[in-house]
Amino acid sequence: MPIFSTTVRLSLSWSRQGRVYREGGDNRDNMKNIVILISGSGSNMAAIVQRGRQEDWAERLGAKVAAVISNKAEAKGLVFACEEGIPTAVLDHKAYPSREAFDAALVQEIDRHAPALVVLAGFMRILTPGFVAHYAGRLINIHPSLLPAFPGLHTHKRAIEAGCKFAGATVHEVTAELDHGTILAQAVVPVLPDDTPEVLAERVLTQEHRIYPQAVIEFLKK
Ligand code: GRF
Repeated sequence: MPIFSTTVRLSLSWSRQGRVYREGGDNRDNMKNIVILISGSGSNMAAIVQRGRQEDWAERLGAKVAAVISNKAEAKGLVFACEEGIPTAVLDHKAYPSREAFDAALVQEIDRHAPALVVLAGFMRILTPGFVAHYAGRLINIHPSLLPAFPGLHTHKRAIEAGCKFAGATVHEVTAELDHGTILAQAVVPVLPDDTPEVLAERVLTQEHRIYPQAVIEFLKK
C-alpha cells in the first residue's frame, strides 16, 4: 500500500444543518487518528495536543490529533485547535430534534476521520447507548473525581462536603453507564482545610493534564 505524506492548510469554513467546519492540518493516511470532543475551555485537549507535539507522536507512535469537535460554537478550546492547524467542527446539539439524531450526526462527523481513539475532554453531553457501542474499546473520558466515588456533576463540592481528605481525577473507558467503565489512570490530590470547589478543581485539573495525555499514549501503544 502506498504511503504518502501531505500537509494541507486551508482556511475553509462553511455551515450546514448546525455544522461549522474548518479544515486544515496533517493528512497522512497511515496514522492512528485521535478525535477529541470538547464543550468548553478544552485544557485537557490542549494538554494532549501539546504532549503529542513535544513528543512527536506522529513519528514515534504513528498517531495524530485528527480533529477537535465541539457541540458549542463558543467553546474556547476551538481557538487553540485552530491555531494548532487541527481541523475543527461544531455540531450544535440544539439543531437536532433528539439525542439520537445528534449522536448519529456526531458519529458521521467523527467517522470522517476513521478514529483509532475518541477522547472525551470536557464534552458535556450524555451519550446514547448506540454511540457508546459504536466506539466500544476506543472511547475514553476523564472525570474529575476518584471514581467510583462521585460520578456525575459537582464532584469537587461533593468531595469537600463529604469531608474527603483526598480527591482526584480518573481516566476511564466509556460504557453506557455514566462515569463507569474500566479505570485506566488516576491521580490523587489532597483536599486542604480551606479549599473551595474552585480551588480544588484547579488542583485536580493540573493533574488531569498530566494523566490524560499519558493514558492516551498507553492506549496508542497497545
Ligand atoms: C475537566 O475537569 C474534566 O475532568 C471534566 O470537565 C473538565 C473539562 O475541562 N470532564 P477542560 O475543558 O479540559 O479544560
